[in-house]
Amino acid sequence: MRILLTASEVFPLAKTGGLADAVAGLAAALAELGHEVRVAVPAYPGVVERSGALRRLGAITAAGQPFEIYAGRVAGLPPLWLFANAALFERPGDLYHDEHGQPFADNALRFGSFCQALAQACASPPEAAFQPQLVHANDWQTALTLPWLQTLTPTVARVYTIHNLAYQGVFPAAVAHELGLPATWWHAGGVEFYGQLSFMKAGIVHAQRLTTVSPTYAREILTPACGHGLDGLLRTRAAVLSGILNGIDEATWNPATDPHLRRRYRAHDITEGKRSNRRALQHELGLAAGDAPFLIGSVTRLAYQKGMDLLVAAMPELMQMPVQIALLGAGDRSLAEEFTALCGRWHGRFAFHYGYSEDLAHRIEAGADGFLMPSRYEPCGLNQIYSQRYGTVPIVRRIGGLADTVVDADGATLAAGTATGIHFLDADPGGLLYGVRRALELRSDASIWVQLQRNGMHRDFSWRAAAQRYLAVYAQALAAAV
Ligand code: ADP
Ligand code: GLC
Repeated sequence: MRILLTASEVFPLAKTGGLADAVAGLAAALAELGHEVRVAVPAYPGVVERSGALRRLGAITAAGQPFEIYAGRVAGLPPLWLFANAALFERPGDLYHDEHGQPFADNALRFGSFCQALAQACASPPEAAFQPQLVHANDWQTALTLPWLQTLTPTVARVYTIHNLAYQGVFPAAVAHELGLPATWWHAGGVEFYGQLSFMKAGIVHAQRLTTVSPTYAREILTPACGHGLDGLLRTRAAVLSGILNGIDEATWNPATDPHLRRRYRAHDITEGKRSNRRALQHELGLAAGDAPFLIGSVTRLAYQKGMDLLVAAMPELMQMPVQIALLGAGDRSLAEEFTALCGRWHGRFAFHYGYSEDLAHRIEAGADGFLMPSRYEPCGLNQIYSQRYGTVPIVRRIGGLADTVVDADGATLAAGTATGIHFLDADPGGLLYGVRRALELRSDASIWVQLQRNGMHRDFSWRAAAQRYLAVYAQALAAAV
């Protein structure tokens, strides 16, 4: 099958979160299964630098914006289509925000014109040898590709994946005009959402098949509590919606080969491996040295979704327990200030590093005993999966992908040898504290704890199985397209 995957980020070229990992993992796995794959992304500065010698494929103007299209290569990924427009994509800040953390005022134009350019490229492919049979768009930034495809080249099948329903790409109605969207799209069954333009809605309405990144999240988004205003629409599309768990990059996240670690380890020498990496981490972050405290790690965007404010609220009681905390995060500045203050207050027991650091993320996974994810909602989540590979026991809320990827330790799962972590239910400090207390109790029995660690390390989280599920969805979309 000739598959074009499109997204606003792909690892290792451009990443702000799990979307980049998921797109890269799926693209590589599809190619390994023998399919012809291209990945289309905007040519951000980092992308051009890291994708080797570029070959110019052509030029396209969309929504008044000129794009040059280049073919690029990067190790581990199928060939790339890079859409270059310096005015739109070569800017300081991250992919979506300026240096002050404000969303770029023209994000609708940046991604809307990219979507249109992409659909035009599918209608008259810049690579003669690659006429896409199917386009798989991801999240709001690339959702508008789908109505454009339906208009310009309806025989190309359309699949849309929701990685996070909370970010919808909703803009004032005038933006639809600015983007030159056909007036016929502007109705409640199209791209209009309560008088505004919704990219996310365009994807949901115009795909032949919809997926999201875990079976539980696929059910949750059909409810008013988790539907972010789109649950009604999603219920009308429930028959074509499925949840497919993300895999992980098992080469990058492997404690037996990880170059970032003080000591590499496998399931058989987990206890020594952990001890050595925990000491190194304590030293690096200024935590008191010692084996006794239970070291809880967390690596996260600082955003409402991730529930890290619950950690702030739980701190007084947490610090009554024999625990240390190592936190790496970037995002919400006021939350970051609270964590910085906590660092001063609990020096030696609470360490916070503000910023984005792949290296430190690996060392926290390896050095921590437990890994905390108190997310309010979590479509899939990757760190709890990395944790299991590193023998780091995840302590997670029982929702979304966290519920689907972590097996709660209870009498039955411990007896069956399947338990890998701890669930808690309530999105409040009490819930979080309950999870940590259960972890401490389980850890007090060394043989149970090692069993939990090893059960996690032995699980299969490869992309291969997920890619096969996507292929089944692609086949359905192709059948619906002709
Ligand atoms: P989300 O995409 O919602 O942020 P995921 O768990 O799916 O959540 O993916 C997050 C990814 O981003 C993981 O690969 C995680 O290691 C990484 N990540 C998040 N914050 C940081 C950070 N501050 N430093 C390094 N890596 C981070
Ligand atoms: C989103 C979600 C996260 C998921 C990731 C990749 O960023 O917040 O839960 O793992 O997408 O699908």
